[in-house]
Amino acid sequence: MNRRRLNYLYKLLYIWQMLQDQITQLTAEINAFTTTSADELEQFRIRFLGSKGLIKDIFEQFKSVSPEEKRVLGKVLNEFKQLAEAKYQALNESTAHTNSQSAKANIDLTLPGEGFEVGARHPLAIVRREIIEIFNKLGFSVAEGPEIEDDWHNFSALNFPEEHPARDMQDTFFIKKGGEHGDIALRTHTSSVQVRMMEAGTPPFRALMPGRVYRNEAISARAHCFFHQVEGLYVDENVSFADLKQTLFYFVQELYGEGTKVRFRPSYFPFTEPSAEMDVSCTICKGAGCQMCKYSGWVEILGCGMVDPNVLENCGIDHKKYSGFAFGMGIERIANLKWEIKDLRLFSENDVRFLKQYQSAII
Ligand code: PHE
Repeated sequence: MNRRRLNYLYKLLYIWQMLQDQITQLTAEINAFTTTSADELEQFRIRFLGSKGLIKDIFEQFKSVSPEEKRVLGKVLNEFKQLAEAKYQALNESTAHTNSQSAKANIDLTLPGEGFEVGARHPLAIVRREIIEIFNKLGFSVAEGPEIEDDWHNFSALNFPEEHPARDMQDTFFIKKGGEHGDIALRTHTSSVQVRMMEAGTPPFRALMPGRVYRNEAISARAHCFFHQVEGLYVDENVSFADLKQTLFYFVQELYGEGTKVRFRPSYFPFTEPSAEMDVSCTICKGAGCQMCKYSGWVEILGCGMVDPNVLENCGIDHKKYSGFAFGMGIERIANLKWEIKDLRLFSENDVRFLKQYQSAII
């Protein structure tokens, strides 16, 4: 055996021994290792199995041995690696388990629970419901329609002539010019639903049209770019202004209590003839005079009138056979008179502290 060969064998023996020692020592360490802490386990993983860990390091050293040696040493090294991996896996499962267990164990059952926030009905929803309930008793059903309307349903069918200044009564948000039934806009009133209803059916009609409407107005305490209406329509043979008065009188007694007075003042709407505005004796001061009624004792709550024969004809209804009345009110206004809510903006701010104050018997 020459010297070089001998040197080589010595070197191998040395490496072999060194690796053997290292592995024996580390195997003992791994076998002894135990933990319940996820942090400690992570330290373990980094030390042994990490990309700069011991096992990686040992495999590096192992590269320099001869092929025969590799076969013997390789087996030992692989077993060592598997040992470390198996340990890690076993501990990983048990720490995950104990960690979730201890999270459960840490719950202090004597602490008070988190309170449930009970929601509240929106004051406008309460008032809308009240209005609908009252008219339900008179046989009125509820009809709804789109908030994006065409010119025909919002204006033309309702007897607003083209270029007529009456169109300016309601500042409109236009969406699109042209279209099969004229310009497309956000509806300015729910009278458009009356048109849709009359076009689609035959009298008698007895329905309420609640819904959101839009007008291009600067937002302030007293005006908003959208608000809510309930309109009503009654069309049948021989419907008279007396029916209108009696119906609305009944509504007011139900809404504000018996003894509430009403008065009708002549007014103008393109779609009704004759037209009127209806006042009620002030719900706050009962007619004595206060800020709400500007010391007049009366407050206006709705517009109304007999459906104009032109409107009936536009909707394909024989005005010689049928007549009808219509009315429309703002829900915000009715809520304001009920609860003295002075700033319209409150209704759309979604402040629960505001919304929660108003409850009603009607759910
Ligand atoms: N549409 C009218 C408005 O929005 C209200 C109304 C409806 C008046 C029906 C009379 C008859 O102002």
